[in-house]
Amino acid sequence: MTNIISKSSYLFIILIILTGCKGNDGSPDDYKNPKLNVPERVENLLSQMTLREKVGQMTQVERGEIQITTIKDNVLGSILNGGGSSPGDSPEDWADMYDQFQEQAMATRLGIPIIYGTDAVHGHNNVKGATIFPHNIGLGCTRNPELIQQINEITALEVAATGIDWTFAPAIPVVRDERWGRTYESFGETPELAALLGEAAIQGLQFSNGEKIAACAKHFIGDGGTNGGHDQGNTILSESELREIHLPGYKAAVDQGVYTVMASYSSWNGTKVHGSDYLLTTVLKDELGFDGFVISDWAAVDQLPGNYSDQVEKAINAGVDMVMVPYDYQKFISTLLELIDDEKISIERIDDAVSRILTVKFKLGLFEEPFTNRDLLPEIGKASHREVARNAVRESLVLLKNDSSVLPISKSSSRIMISGKNADNLGYQMGGWSIYWQGGSGDITEGTSILEGIREVFTKDVDYNINGNGASGADVAVAVIGETPYAEGAGDKTDLSLSSTDINLVKSLKSQGVPVVVVLISGRPLILDPILDDADAIIAAWLPGTEGIGVADVLFGDYNPTGKLSVSWPRSNAQIPINVGDANYDPLYEYGYGLSY
Ligand code: GLC
Repeated sequence: MTNIISKSSYLFIILIILTGCKGNDGSPDDYKNPKLNVPERVENLLSQMTLREKVGQMTQVERGEIQITTIKDNVLGSILNGGGSSPGDSPEDWADMYDQFQEQAMATRLGIPIIYGTDAVHGHNNVKGATIFPHNIGLGCTRNPELIQQINEITALEVAATGIDWTFAPAIPVVRDERWGRTYESFGETPELAALLGEAAIQGLQFSNGEKIAACAKHFIGDGGTNGGHDQGNTILSESELREIHLPGYKAAVDQGVYTVMASYSSWNGTKVHGSDYLLTTVLKDELGFDGFVISDWAAVDQLPGNYSDQVEKAINAGVDMVMVPYDYQKFISTLLELIDDEKISIERIDDAVSRILTVKFKLGLFEEPFTNRDLLPEIGKASHREVARNAVRESLVLLKNDSSVLPISKSSSRIMISGKNADNLGYQMGGWSIYWQGGSGDITEGTSILEGIREVFTKDVDYNINGNGASGADVAVAVIGETPYAEGAGDKTDLSLSSTDINLVKSLKSQGVPVVVVLISGRPLILDPILDDADAIIAAWLPGTEGIGVADVLFGDYNPTGKLSVSWPRSNAQIPINVGDANYDPLYEYGYGLSY
């Protein structure tokens, strides 16, 4: 046989055999090869997927719907837990759940791992024992992107310790009306804070040197600007106003490389964002260049006009890539398949959505490491994380008033009186999205209440009486008052007045002839007028999370307060909404205000 193979080709073949390296020969298993680049892996995998498998990737289901074989039987691409939906009381319960789900996914024909999402919005806040940080409105008062990055690196670590790959955070609303029940999820009332601290959070979640999880900038767009602060309401703005106030945070997030964006329930000038191809595709994907995937909010597709088929058609064609169904996944899958069959949704749109989803899964390394790294479990709630949270509490507090330098409280005081319903209640100081969706009361997880923190820092005589009885004769009385937990629309309020109980407590303390320090636990500014004369000092402590001792650090001067208001503080309900830059801007305390000792 003539030598039909040139010498160089012969050597090349030998080289291939010896090194075992396969060129891009397009073999069915290429997508499993981490040495290939992500676009190649996506293309290789997508080309092998059936339409049914593709639709499965676009389907996100709540963990409570999942039985032993549900994920495998329905080739589901994503699972979530709603706020407070938990597999058990220990981090191990979470890791076991995640791994069981992942085993099902890896047993499917193509072995595409699920991506699991959870609302870790101020730490891994659904998991008992996890470190829970101050909510965003307090973090906004730190003006400290390095701290926010550090908080999110810790959050990524504690989330990854339970196997989970994705948090629906950071929320980057620009809150413009504090009557909104989600005010505390916002970094503040300016686009600058949303951009500065949102990108820091994404850096910490997705790109730290440690564990990496997918972030989710939410809720695109205008969730914090609705008329009257109504949750899921209507944001009535010109396009230039919408772009000026609510877009900068998303531009920064996309430029930072955020992997996912959640669409907002709210509407813009009467059009539901979930159905707006102009906002979700033209602005977010085409103009900003967002190359991750858009997730819908919880059953938000069902809020669009028309029947369910109309709703799914509208949302997917608008640019929603994955649907948080979250329950009736069979109905969603069959409806979407029918729409494709009827050519109401193009296969190009499906391929675009699935490519975006697979891209994130490859970037996260889920194909290489689909299961929990249980060596990380001891990271959850560990002391060094709680120290960072304690420092975040210190930096988030804003000193609003300090007449005759009542603060800091001297450690040589002989007796202090602590009072108020929020003084010794861990649930109250964490707020919503803490173990339970709406939050809870009392010791619902591990942490230190403000009173426990005070007793650690001040070792002399600390009296506690929720009603402030017996304050007379004390060196100082501290009233820890404010809100009880809420989340989302449940927190919408038209009246931001203090409760009569709280007002009467402050007046009662004053009548006992002692200096009065008020610590306000709240997810937003409250109307202080009724207590302004009776309180010698006032600290806005927001929703500090599990490390209440950080409040004690400020009260006793171990930390000199540096916090600056992230929102304007109204004098009265009548002033709301009030934002820096308004004409005739005359708040009680302005945006950026904050005293020091
Ligand atoms: C909620 C919230 C959203 C959250 C999602 C999943 O309704 O609007 O912020 O990420 O559902 O819990």
